[in-house]
Amino acid sequence: MIKIPRFVEQLIPYKAGKPISELAREKNLTRIVKLASAENPLGSSPKALKAIEEALSGLNRYSDPASYDLVQAIAEKYSVQPNHIICGHGTDSLLAYIVSAFTEEGDEIITCEGTFIGIYVSISKTGRKLIKLPLKDYGFDLDALWNAITEKTSMIYLANPNNPTGTMFSSEQFEAFMTQVPDHIMVILDEAYTDYASEFEDYPNGVRYDYENLVITRTLSKAQGLAGLRIGFAVGPDKVIEALYKVKLPFEPNLLAQQAGIAALDDVEFLQQTIDLNRQSLNMLKENFDRIGIPQVKTHTNFILTLMPTQSDAALFAEECANRGLIVRHVDKFGVPNGIRVNSGTVDETEFAVKVMEEVYQLIMNKGEKKR
Ligand SMILES: Cc1ncc(COP(=O)(O)O)c(C=O)c1O
Repeated sequence: MIKIPRFVEQLIPYKAGKPISELAREKNLTRIVKLASAENPLGSSPKALKAIEEALSGLNRYSDPASYDLVQAIAEKYSVQPNHIICGHGTDSLLAYIVSAFTEEGDEIITCEGTFIGIYVSISKTGRKLIKLPLKDYGFDLDALWNAITEKTSMIYLANPNNPTGTMFSSEQFEAFMTQVPDHIMVILDEAYTDYASEFEDYPNGVRYDYENLVITRTLSKAQGLAGLRIGFAVGPDKVIEALYKVKLPFEPNLLAQQAGIAALDDVEFLQQTIDLNRQSLNMLKENFDRIGIPQVKTHTNFILTLMPTQSDAALFAEECANRGLIVRHVDKFGVPNGIRVNSGTVDETEFAVKVMEEVYQLIMNKGEKKR
């Protein structure tokens, strides 16, 4: 009989949000708005869509394993040497490669309780020991991370801004941290929301650093609106990139993704529209959360973390919103048991979301009142 390793037995499969079509069928709803996965409400970069159409006729060919043209485009855009860049099937895929390439059995990886769930999955899959430290004011506690380093530590994961809290650490804090961390410990700096955070003056913008133990990950899933296509890239020292090529599956990103990625990076107009809409929608959300009295955490991304009184209130909030056609994310599995993450939508979607959330929040608060 086939033996399944214990760490695989213990893995909890990823549970994605309910598909829109399933919810519509179940609840007989005519309108559903999904603000649960930090996707781009504007759609995808039109330039990327055009590039996909043009690339369709080449699908009988394998994609370029080195993503030569996409790497050149990234190198030019971010002023990085091409041999310091690798592209993959989204950040998720690259994170898994980084963990498998730079850690061994018995190693410890440190991050915080309350960050991107994908890194927990990538680490658990390898059977490495995951050390999760509490958040401080909903952000990474860099001093605590540094203090938690032992001789078994081989990697530290940071997300800046952080998902699901939306908090950010500054260049000064990051540089102080990097000077303390011994250089045999690999630091992953996940910058999935960089396009939204760049407007903050003290945002570190990781690609400008050249620490020998730093690898940055970025994605085109968010501001470029290509989540369904799967394109991400990592920037790091040439030795790190060489090692990652050894573990990467050869043909990712796929051919369409490579062409779309080049076009999307060039689509400054779509990026600006995305950033402008995000700012407008977030302002609507922030003002309304304050008016309604829903506690929120200051964001630097395209979503806001709101806080319910308890974990069961948060579960009920997500469920009651879904019953009314609004999908938001209860982020208990990320490590914030009472957190609800809501991302920016179109103006119309955001207005709908506010209406639903106000009604549901009042329902939850009234229920709490009755109990007391
Ligand atoms: C911090 C962070 N990293 C990575 C990802 C995943 O990016 P990708 O779609 O490129 O796999 C996400 C997606 O939500 C994220 O929030």
